[in-house]
Formats: sequence, structure tokens, C-alpha cells
Amino acid sequence: MSSKKYNMWLQYQPILNTTCKKHYQKMLTTLYVNGNAPTIQSAEQELTDAIFTMLGQRITSKSDMDHATIVIGNIEEISSLLSNDHIARLAEMNEEGYLVIENQGKIIISGNSDAAVLYGVHHLLRNMQLEQDLISLAVFEQPKNQFRMLNQWDNLNGSVERGYSGKSIFYQNGKIVKDKTRIKDYARYLSSVGINAISINNVNVWEEESYFITKKYLPEIREIADIFRAYGITLYLSINFASPMTIDGMSTADPLNQSVQNWWKDKIAEIYHYIPDFGGFIVKADSENRPGPFTYNRDHADGANMLAKAFEPYGGKVIWRCFVYNHLQDWRDRTTDRARAAYDHFKPLDGKFHENVILQIKNGPMDFQVREGVSPLIGAMPNTNQMIEFQVAQEYTGQQIDLCYLLPQWKQILQFDTYIKGAGTTIAEIVAGTIHTYKYSGIAAVSNIGGDDENWTGNTLAQANLYGYGRLIWNPDLSAEEIAQEWIVQTFGNKKEVSNTLGEMLLNSWEIYENYTAPLGVGWMVTPGVHYGPNIDGYEYSKWGGTYHFADRDGVGVDRTKETGTGFTTQYAEPNQNLYNDVSKCPDELLLFFHHVPYKYTLKNSKTIIQHIYDTHFKGFEQVEDLIKKWDSLADLIDEERFKNVQNRLKQQKNNAREWRDQINTYFYRKSGVADKQNRAIY
Ligand code: GCU
Repeated sequence: MSSKKYNMWLQYQPILNTTCKKHYQKMLTTLYVNGNAPTIQSAEQELTDAIFTMLGQRITSKSDMDHATIVIGNIEEISSLLSNDHIARLAEMNEEGYLVIENQGKIIISGNSDAAVLYGVHHLLRNMQLEQDLISLAVFEQPKNQFRMLNQWDNLNGSVERGYSGKSIFYQNGKIVKDKTRIKDYARYLSSVGINAISINNVNVWEEESYFITKKYLPEIREIADIFRAYGITLYLSINFASPMTIDGMSTADPLNQSVQNWWKDKIAEIYHYIPDFGGFIVKADSENRPGPFTYNRDHADGANMLAKAFEPYGGKVIWRCFVYNHLQDWRDRTTDRARAAYDHFKPLDGKFHENVILQIKNGPMDFQVREGVSPLIGAMPNTNQMIEFQVAQEYTGQQIDLCYLLPQWKQILQFDTYIKGAGTTIAEIVAGTIHTYKYSGIAAVSNIGGDDENWTGNTLAQANLYGYGRLIWNPDLSAEEIAQEWIVQTFGNKKEVSNTLGEMLLNSWEIYENYTAPLGVGWMVTPGVHYGPNIDGYEYSKWGGTYHFADRDGVGVDRTKETGTGFTTQYAEPNQNLYNDVSKCPDELLLFFHHVPYKYTLKNSKTIIQHIYDTHFKGFEQVEDLIKKWDSLADLIDEERFKNVQNRLKQQKNNAREWRDQINTYFYRKSGVADKQNRAIY
């Protein structure tokens, strides 16, 4: 399959700028490849195919490097082409570090591992798609984060939990797909932005998926691992904590029970027999009805360590999710607070986990809302490996119908200063492992792709989030603007008007989405279950009723202060604790996340809460109308298929925004009895 919508950002469109094209054609004629590992072969293939489509010429292979115009491969043999300084700089970088050098008309791409060479090749191809000069290239790059992972939430029946692009590319009708071409292409896209780990099944592991770690499925999973390996990506599986019971009918899954421990030891040995470089397990335990160590009065360190021990001989990892909370708790009782749960469960266990366990923590303490505080657990366990979890899938941010470019949100989270070890203790540094010197750390995210949609992500523009996720976690210093521009040019070609207009659309889209949905950090207000469209009092699990926002006739918001609320604010280090706890200091955008305030409370932006709600909701809707105008202005510059795809989604977004605006405004008008100062119609 190959089409503009399918090719995402690897379009490799013919270069239109003739000077640039001539320059490339002259430089890129012959290739020498050193090494034949699968990743090197992938690099060679990508390079030759891409050059052919971009320049219309096939590069020929050379058997000696002196006569080749491009040389790629392991450093050992080609070091004679490099200066001592180049070699020294490469040696200072980590295993995935690479260089791309131009020297007297020759391009040299090398790195500290085979995968690094592939990353280097993608660097060159990106430069070419962006039509950049190759003369005097001297690039030295290494990823900031060790783990750069995607989590698929795909089920064997072909559905994808929180999937907004149709069915799974991995499974169909209860079986692993036979034709794995699409998986291979997915691996290509991921490697082009530096992803190096993937888990291929839903964190909620149902009955049949529990058998993924048995010989019923392992031979085919091995094939998938082979595909990803050729792109530098290590395969992981989500597991059912109660597997010994589900698979082998044991009477317990108690992590301290010797037979259970032996069972896992044998099981893990079996997996490595099939996949010698298997990455490890992702575990969702004691959360939303999934089994876990609590059943046996054990803690999460007991659970994780049992698996970690069994993985030790093979170098495997246990990625243990901290999304652990009692979903049946009575939300009306203000002494309990879901936001507190992860920290309360895990912080006391610091230092108790084996060194091959990594805790995976959602970016916020709740659940991927359009805005929430940063999880205070990140960085709070100096002696336990941690990684942060983002959601590329837009579960609560428009479900790939509404436009919501998430890079500005992720940037803000990564730049958040926790002050855990003084100023500069940002989330970016913590998950990169530079603050507490973790053995393993990094970033994971829930993927947003599916296979029904040939364009992978439902909304073509949602591809920007997948691209941006990879680029940002490789280099968190890149700005959301830079990443957007890279993506636009590679996806739609080098046209100023598209870059400007679409760039603006993407960069404002998060704020726009926030404007017409849940205000001031309060979150939720979505239709329970589906999480799309407004349902202001909708509360997912409670059998007692209740809301997430505590709106009454006097005010709105969740009191999480230490004096009168849930005390969640105490989980932050100072000065953040005081910043959030003190209503007069708390930033506007998070005010209702931390405080219950009267409708006439004045925000720092000088508006009352109620007026702010009205204004942002009217504005958000108008901004969506403007997005439509902007997109329509690009009609002649974008191919019809992709143009229509986005146009159609924007129309749906407009309906959604209208519904949100009207429901929110009416709800708060009725609750508060305070009229809009501008007397706009509130239905
Ligand atoms: C959210 C999401 C669930 C998912 C869960 C998780 O609650 O709605 O579908 O299973 O997160 O992260 O485990």
C-alpha cells in the first residue's frame, strides 16, 4: 500500500527545487554499506528507496568506500574516513548516538550501534525532505531518553481500546494477522522518529490474550519481534498478573508463593527461547478490575520483584504501571481522592523495587485530561526507576475527530520544575535519569494508530502527534513549533502558505480544545464510557452519583488543599506545594483542579470564574470556525483526499464545540444564576 495518506511523514516526494535537486543528485550517486545486521539492511533499503523517489535516480552499490559518495555503517571499519575529533565525539555519546558528516563531497553516516546508523540515515533523509544543504554537514546526535516506547492498546479480537482509527493492525478476529506488511511499515515510521520499544497488546489483558506468553502465540509473536528488531525496536508484552491461574489453573497468583515464582521463572525462560532479545512485561495490576498483588495482601514491590527476579538472567525489564486507584471509591467523600492514589500507593515503596523494574507513571494524577497538574509521583522516588506515560491517542482530547496537537502540552509537562532536588529538577531531567541516576528510565505513550483508516490515525492531522511524540522524546529541547514545521513539510511538501497556516492551526489547537471543553483544569465533564462529547455531571463509576467537579449553586472545583480538602497538594515539593495550595497563588489554568471557589471569584486574568467560563466557551467555538476557514484556504495546496479528510473532521469538531459551548454555558448559568456580562444567548 502506498498513497499520500498512507505514507504519513515519509512521503519522499520528488524534490521540486531544481538547485537543491541537482545538488543532491550530484552528491548521492554511489553507496558503500558496512555491516549486514537487519537494522543496517533496513537503513540501506530506506536510503536507496527514498533517494529513488526523491531524486529519480538509483544509487549504485560500491564495494570500496573510497569511491562511494555515501558511506554508512559501523564505526570500526569506516573510521579511516573520520577525523580523530569525530571519533572522539562519537565515543562520548551513548549507544544510540550517531554522526552524519559531509567531507569533500562524501557523506558518512555512522553510530555507536546498528540502530544508531538507521537513525543517522533518517536524519539525512529528513534534511533532504526539508531541502537543506548537505555541504559541511556535521551532525552529532544522541537521544536524551533511554526508553522511547509506544504502548499499543490492541486486543486480539481486532478492537483497539481507546482506538480512533479503526481496527488493529496486529490482530483480526481473534488471530494475529498473517500479512504483516502494515506492521513492517509501522516499524519504519516509528524508527524514523527514534522509537526503540513497543508493547503490542492492551494493558487490560483479557482471557485469551493471557495466552500470548504460551506456545500457542509465541511463534507468531516472534515474527513480529523480528520485524521490529530490524528497525531497532524491542518488543514487550502486557501480561495478566493472574496468568498462573488463567493459563495453568493454579489456585493462586500470590507473588510470594514458591510455586507461583517457579511458574514465572519457567514461563520467562520459555519466552526467551522464542525471542532472545525480548524486552519484558508491562503490568497493569490492581487497577480497574485487573488482578494484582493486593488480593494476597502483598504490595506492588512484591508483585513486580517476583517477575523482575525471573527476568534477571535475560536482561528483561518489568514496566509496572502506577495507574492504581480504587475506581469504586465514593467520590463524594472528600477525604478520598483519586489524584492522591498513585503517590499514596507507591511512594512508601521507594527503594524496594529490583533494578530491572521501571515504574510507568501517567503524566497527570488523574487520567490524560486536557489539563491537570503534573503527577507529583514523578521524581518523588529517588531510588526507583521511573518513566512517564503520555497518551498520543486523543482519548480525552477530541478522539482524533477534533484537532488537538499535543506537543505544547507535553512540552509544558516536561519543562515542569518539580523542585524535588532544588530548582531545575524538571520532569524532562528526571525521566532522562540525570537527577536520580536511574538505571533505566524514559518515556512511554499510548499509540494512536489503527488499520481501518488507511491514513493510520483517522484524522490525517493526528499524525503530527505520533511524529512529534517521537521527535520530542528524542530531543526534549525541540520546540513544538519546530516539530510542527518539520512534520508539515515532510507530510505536505515545502509550501510556505501551508507551513504558516497549518502551523498556526496546530499550535493553537490545544488551547482551542480546552476553551470549549472543561474549564480551568477541572477536567472530565465527558460522556461516561466513550469520553467524547459533553456530559457535565457524567461520572464514570460511582454507584452513589456525584460529579467530578463539585459544582453547586455557590461555586465549582475540587478542594485539594491540605486545610480543608483532600490534601493532595502536600504531595508536591515546595514551592509547588504552596503555589497550588494557596488559592491566591494557584495559576488560573489549574484553579479548579486544586480549589473549590465561588463563581464570582476573580481570576488573575481579572475575570470572574463564571465570566471566564462563558467567554472561553464562546471563544472556543469561534476559534473552531476560524480553523475551518484556515483549512479551507489551503484547498488548492493539498491533495483532495487528505484535504477532505480533515475538512470533514473539522465539521464534526464544530458540532462538538457547539454542543460543549451550549451545555457548559447553560449548566453554569442555571447553577449560578449569574448572567453573561455580554448578554450573549445561552441556550
Ligand atoms: C483510562 C482508559 C482506560 C484504560 C486506562 C489505563 O482509564 O479510559 O480505557 O484502560 O486508562 O490506562 O489503564
